[in-house]
Amino acid sequence: MSDIILGIESSCDDTSAAVIKDGLLLSNVIASQKVHEAYGGVVPELASRAHQQNIVPVVSEALRQAGISKEDLSAIAFTRGPGLLGSLLVGTSFAKGLALGLNIPLIDVNHLHGHVLSQFIRETEDDVVPEFPFMTLLVSGGNSQIIMVHSPEKMEILGQTIDDAAGEAFDKCAKVMGLPYPGGPHIDRLAAEGDPHRFQFAKPHIPGLDYSFSGLKTSFLYTLRDNLKNNPDFIQQNMADLAASLQHTIVEILVDKLKKAVDMYRPAHLTIGGGVSANNGVREAVEKLCIEKGVTPWLPKRKFTTDNAAMVAIAGMFKYRNKDFCDIAAPPYARVTI
Ligand code: KG4
Repeated sequence: MSDIILGIESSCDDTSAAVIKDGLLLSNVIASQKVHEAYGGVVPELASRAHQQNIVPVVSEALRQAGISKEDLSAIAFTRGPGLLGSLLVGTSFAKGLALGLNIPLIDVNHLHGHVLSQFIRETEDDVVPEFPFMTLLVSGGNSQIIMVHSPEKMEILGQTIDDAAGEAFDKCAKVMGLPYPGGPHIDRLAAEGDPHRFQFAKPHIPGLDYSFSGLKTSFLYTLRDNLKNNPDFIQQNMADLAASLQHTIVEILVDKLKKAVDMYRPAHLTIGGGVSANNGVREAVEKLCIEKGVTPWLPKRKFTTDNAAMVAIAGMFKYRNKDFCDIAAPPYARVTI
């Protein structure tokens, strides 16, 4: 009999459902919430309401695209946290109701494990996956971590941000430039046309493998403020160079510590994950580092870098194989570490 897992993701502003059958992805439906664009960031209450509207059609569509009925499902995996509590409650409650109604196991997934394991999402039999243990750079809107992944369940944080995440640095700097939310992809696009050495921004000097992005953010803000005094059109006239210099600095900060971690732990494989791993500068720099250090690089398909249920379903599949199920009373967690 086949193992068919339904994954449900609702931790922030994407409602997503995916079906994985015997390790192969059959569908991955994502409803992104446009309502937040006008506010320059995610509004939690609006996110919960949109999840409520989206969850039934998104799950139905994922089942339809997979060509299966709900009675074929072996288990339901859902994101338990971290995330916005109101958003998590929608996916959690839906998953529980469906699992109870179908009398099948329920599997709780740590959203961060999902990002790390997204490299294992296979769309065809030819897709290859990394071997454990491997090192991961997890960079998203809420996290910047270097992790040693010993197994699907055992992950060890080697370093992490002590303040803002890399995605926050992209988004907040983009916001002061007047770019729409989320700003990361806009900076990436503009950076392709700009000079990465035109402006210099502060880089942190903290020991070990930890990150910090708050100093860079302030230094970016001060550069804009000082230049706007003499030229009100400074941002408009220097959009591409500002984006390229900002991206260059963020990539340097990320890769400096990653290089240090690779030298210390000498992994055979290095993966990246999370929304910021879609960034062209990050991908190029990580690939270059891997070539330099003789490490095998694994860059995720861009569609699996931002929040999606395929990564929840794959993390759920690993737990399903270990019969690692969760209780129907399990509450969602707004905060939880890897
Ligand atoms: O993983 P994700 O969808 O959500 C979290 O779990 O946080 O990541 C969202 C973050 C946002 O900060 C967004 O600006 C950033 O990923 N992002 C990018 C790019 N695509 C998404 N940042 C830089 N370059 C990109 N191409």
